[in-house]
Amino acid sequence: MDIFRKKTVGGLEETDGKLKRTLSALDLTALGVGAIIGTGIFVLTGVAAAVHAGPALIISFAIAALTCVLSALCYSEFASSVPVSGSAYAYSYVAFGEIIAWVLGWDLILEYGVAAAAVASGWSSYFTGLLDGFGIHLPAAISGAYDASRGSIVDLPAMVIIFVITYLLNRGVQETARFNGIMVIVKLVVVLLFIGVGAFYVKPDNWSPFLPFGVGGVINGAATVFFAYIGFDAVSTAAEEVKRPQRDMPIAIIASLAICTLLYILVSLVLTGMVPYTSLNVGDPVAFALRFVNQNALAGLTSVGAIAGMTTVLLVMLFGLTRLLFAISRDGLITSKLSRVSGKAQTPTQSTWATGTLIALLTGFVPLSKLANLTSIGTLFAFAVVSLGIIALRKNNPDKKGGFRVPWVPFLPLLSAAACLYLMINLQAMTWIGFGVWMVVGLLIYFMYGRRHSLLNHDQS
Ligand code: ALA
Repeated sequence: MDIFRKKTVGGLEETDGKLKRTLSALDLTALGVGAIIGTGIFVLTGVAAAVHAGPALIISFAIAALTCVLSALCYSEFASSVPVSGSAYAYSYVAFGEIIAWVLGWDLILEYGVAAAAVASGWSSYFTGLLDGFGIHLPAAISGAYDASRGSIVDLPAMVIIFVITYLLNRGVQETARFNGIMVIVKLVVVLLFIGVGAFYVKPDNWSPFLPFGVGGVINGAATVFFAYIGFDAVSTAAEEVKRPQRDMPIAIIASLAICTLLYILVSLVLTGMVPYTSLNVGDPVAFALRFVNQNALAGLTSVGAIAGMTTVLLVMLFGLTRLLFAISRDGLITSKLSRVSGKAQTPTQSTWATGTLIALLTGFVPLSKLANLTSIGTLFAFAVVSLGIIALRKNNPDKKGGFRVPWVPFLPLLSAAACLYLMINLQAMTWIGFGVWMVVGLLIYFMYGRRHSLLNHDQS
């Protein structure tokens, strides 16, 4: 059936060569760490410890990490076999065919779009908090998305940061990577300082009872903190701008995830050791723990780390979204305007501004901060499909040699998909409803537009 028409690995390589190849393995790893450490660790750990997991938060982080590691291995094999823009979307085109690719592309638009909008509103709260600290108070009307009870109309700081990042992205991928690198160092220093200083204030008594909410709580905690790991997959959208994608993509995906996993495990251990978990239901748990032990200066510095962290998450999510739209548009499934590359920097200018404007409007006017779970469900879905895709990739391309290879196929990809589905089941019903509605809209668009305009449709007629 035409909706299952596939691309071949060889055919994909021919489309290569429009974007500039400048990124190294180190740049890519920094992009991965940039995308990963942000709202999740600085905001969500508090509620995950207080309401879901208790001191067993560390186990929640370990379960979420394990799920991600399994998927990261599958992403790595795809990234080195199909080194083109578009990440899971492009992989599914090869493994399963067009309609699944579209579903995945549409799913990733949700993941990156909602993540960017939600993180921008978190960024804005931290930023206005920092300004307040300096005695500068923004009027309520311009400091939050529409909320009649608070008197807010538009979240201006969130919109401004989105436009600043959009501008930066258009300056070129090298400038973007350089800026990202500096911000990543700032946030890593803050996280390391927290671990190093906090460790001296750990009271082992705070770790008991270790499992106040039982095993179920730990699993719910894992589904919540999964958000903190999202981002290593966004690295794979940069494939066409990497100097040696076959070698560097797997290195960057696995290295960025490994670094963040180690840091998260240490942060959760120190955090729950410093403060009784019952007091952690706050919006800034890391700074709160430092204030709790009277390290006020360091607590202030944490805001700077959190702002730097959220800035890089925004940067990579928006970057991923532009590259995804670029790839989908190049295939004809959405308007071809979004795949034009222009300027000295050879960036997809139109898709970048379109993305920036849309996300700025979304974050400016719609209160989205509660929608982080939509990002998680979208990402878990993508991880599950990519994992199963490895089995299809091997079957369709039995002669494929070289590059990174997942061990124990099909066992490991099946386990990976099962782990993702399990975490998805542990998300709330509302999240599932939102996800379902989004997918139905996506399918309508495909049948009304994409199916006819697809480049593969033209190739075959
Ligand atoms: N992992 C990213 C964050 O925690 C999305 O902000």
